[in-house]
Amino acid sequence: MSIKTAIVNGVATIEIARPEKKNALTVAMYQAMADALNAARDDTTVRAVLITGQPGVFTSGNDIEDFMSRPPGQGSDALDSPVARFMRALLECDKPVVAAVTGAAIGIGTTMLLHCDLVYVADDARLAMPFVSLGLVPEYASSLLVPQLMGHRRAAEKLLLGDPFTAEQAVECGIANAVLPASEVVNHARRIAERFNTLPPGAVREAKQLMRAPQRELVMQTIRTEGALFAKRLRSPEAMEAFQAFFQKRKPDFSRF
Ligand code: COA
Repeated sequence: MSIKTAIVNGVATIEIARPEKKNALTVAMYQAMADALNAARDDTTVRAVLITGQPGVFTSGNDIEDFMSRPPGQGSDALDSPVARFMRALLECDKPVVAAVTGAAIGIGTTMLLHCDLVYVADDARLAMPFVSLGLVPEYASSLLVPQLMGHRRAAEKLLLGDPFTAEQAVECGIANAVLPASEVVNHARRIAERFNTLPPGAVREAKQLMRAPQRELVMQTIRTEGALFAKRLRSPEAMEAFQAFFQKRKPDFSRF
C-alpha cells in the first residue's frame, strides 16, 4: 500500500510512500488518506496528525495518468471523488495537522499545506503549483489563500507562471513555519505534533475551529467555484496536450490554442 499509517504516542502519521512514481497520488491513495484522517479525528487517543512523504519527495501531486483516465467527476459527483473526500477530511479535521515536507511538493502537494496547521520544510524542499502550465486552474481555495498569504504579485508568480519556490521562500511567504535540515525535518515535526499530548485537547480543538471560522464559508464557496472549472479544464485540449507532453518527456506546445 502506498499510504502507510501508524499511531504512535498520540500522533497519527500518514506517510505517502510511492517513491517509484515520486509519490504521485492516485485515487486509492486519496481514499486511504481520507480514511486515515477521519479515523484520527474519531480516535480519542490521537492528539495530532502528521503528514510526511519520502526523502527527496513529499509528493509530485495528482497522478497525471489518473487525471487522464479517471478525472474527478463534474457537478455533484466531483464532491464525492476521493480527492474531494481527502481534502474535505483535511478541512474538517478538528485536531492539529502538522506536515513535514522533504523534496518536491507539487500541485496538491503544496495546496494541501495551505490547510495544515503547522508546516516544516526541509532545506531540499521545492514547492510548486503549476496548474496553469498543465492547462488547469488553482484548486482547493489556493486562488483565495495564496494571494491572501503573500499578495497578488507574488501569488501570480506561483499560480500564473507556476514558478517553483524554495523552502526559505515558503517560510518567507507564510506557507511554512521553519526550514530544517532534510535529515531532521520529520523528527522535528513529530516532536511538535507530540507537544499536543501536553495541551488540553478541547481547547486546542475549539481554538482551531475559531481560527478557521471567519473564512470557512468563503473557502468552501471558492472550492466549489474552482472545482467546477478544474473538472472542465481536465477535459480540455490544453490539458490533454500538457499531460501527453509530460509522459512523452517533451515540452508542451500551446501555440495552436
Ligand atoms: N503523475 C504520474 N506519474 C508521475 C508523476 C505524476 N504526477 N510524477 C512523476 N511521475 C512518474 C514519472 O512519469 C516517472 O515514471 P517512469 O519511471 O515510469 O517514467 C517516475 O514518476 C519518475 O519521475 P521523473 O519525472 O523521471 O523524476 P524526476 O526526478 O526527473 O522529476 C518531478 C521529479 C516530481 C520534478 C517530476 O516527476 C514532475 O514534474 N512530475 C509531475 C509534477 C506535476 O506536474 N504534477 C501535477 C500537479 S497538478
